[in-house]
Amino acid sequence: MTTRRQFLELSAATAGALALSGRRGLFAQQPMASAAKPLRILILGGTGFIGPHQVRYALARGHTVTLFNRGRTNPDMFPEVEKLRGDRDGDLEALKGRDWDAVIDNSATIPRWVRDSAGLLKDSAGQYLYISTLSVYRGFPQPGMDETAPVQELEDPTVEQVNGRTYGGLKALCEQAAQAALPGRTTVVRPGLIVGPGDPTDRWTYWPVRISRGGEVLAPGDPWTLVRYIDARDVSEWCVRMLEDGNTGVYNAVGPRSHLSTAEMLYGIRATTNVEIGFTWVAADFLAEQNVRPWSDLPAWLPPTEEYVGYGSISRDKAIAAGLTFRPLATTALETLDWWRSLPEERRASPRAGLPPEREAEVLAAWHARASG
Ligand SMILES: NC(=O)c1ccc[n+]([C@@H]2O[C@H](COP(=O)([O-])OP(=O)(O)OC[C@H]3O[C@@H](n4cnc5c(N)ncnc54)[C@H](OP(=O)(O)O)[C@@H]3O)[C@@H](O)[C@H]2O)c1
Repeated sequence: MTTRRQFLELSAATAGALALSGRRGLFAQQPMASAAKPLRILILGGTGFIGPHQVRYALARGHTVTLFNRGRTNPDMFPEVEKLRGDRDGDLEALKGRDWDAVIDNSATIPRWVRDSAGLLKDSAGQYLYISTLSVYRGFPQPGMDETAPVQELEDPTVEQVNGRTYGGLKALCEQAAQAALPGRTTVVRPGLIVGPGDPTDRWTYWPVRISRGGEVLAPGDPWTLVRYIDARDVSEWCVRMLEDGNTGVYNAVGPRSHLSTAEMLYGIRATTNVEIGFTWVAADFLAEQNVRPWSDLPAWLPPTEEYVGYGSISRDKAIAAGLTFRPLATTALETLDWWRSLPEERRASPRAGLPPEREAEVLAAWHARASG
């Protein structure tokens, strides 16, 4: 016999499950249409985070793909795809004597690597798409900045050490090396925070994972602070379409389509779960006092101070005009969580970003003590 209470609990659980499965069904992928003209695409890299999404989409669109890498990262991925072995750092032999319609360069942060590969391929490839980053900009002091904003210049342009201080300047030099080798035939894509299934950094992944645990969730700073991120599938698929369309130039590749506040992002992720949850908004200066770091401890969140005033509103209009599209937040959140749950337990036990649960509880307790004291 089912009691009335059991019946109500069961009905609520079923309604929740139906709501979730309905959402997944709603966002199910449509069958992929083939490109008008199949291309031969060389991908430098291809087996890390965004590379595999590019490969899957390019194959689904009917293109032929060749990968070039050292064979260290996920070497068993894509057994059906041609793989050329070599090293960006001094061994490009395998690229000689071949030609391609287009190249995607994912794997370079050192300008010499781009000079060497783009120099070698300039007469044997029609278009060169370089994956850069929003970090090339000198800062984000104004709202709504676009691709004409000034980029960083390294004091020593020969430096090859990649770290927080040099990364943006090195990527800017990589862009320039590609443009110099293939003038008018280069596409520079500058993504912001790349998120979604396969993200090795665990940064944005923190939010769907944390929110799915329920309870009191520490939410950072001013709820109205704008955020920017891009689903890895959105940027990867668009890169392939940029090759199909022969689009060149420089593009910021961030989403979403409309301005999105931190609160809208967190409530949007919450809408994909039916756990009991509440957000406690903790002021940015208090988080700083507690040594809680924006971005790495509370990913995607950058307090809009000084050089970051315009980060959350950086323009992506040019990319949208060139066909960049965005999955709904709910799709990204649900599929990132599904992917995370598919990882081995040992991997999930040591997330690479985000506040550990005990640290979050400590900071929340300190915040409540201050508020009530
Ligand atoms: N994650 C973010 O939020 C973010 C934001 C903005 C921009 N970006 C940019 O996005 C790009 C995409 O990175 P990804 O990891 O997703 O690309 P990926 O193409 O999926 O993976 C990196 C590839 O590079 C290959 N590789 C590494 N060192 C190599 C070498 N010395 N010679 C030849 N191949 C080499 C790796 O294979 P082997 O190890 O087998 O060689 C792997 O296939 C990066 O340029 C990064 O700067 C990332």
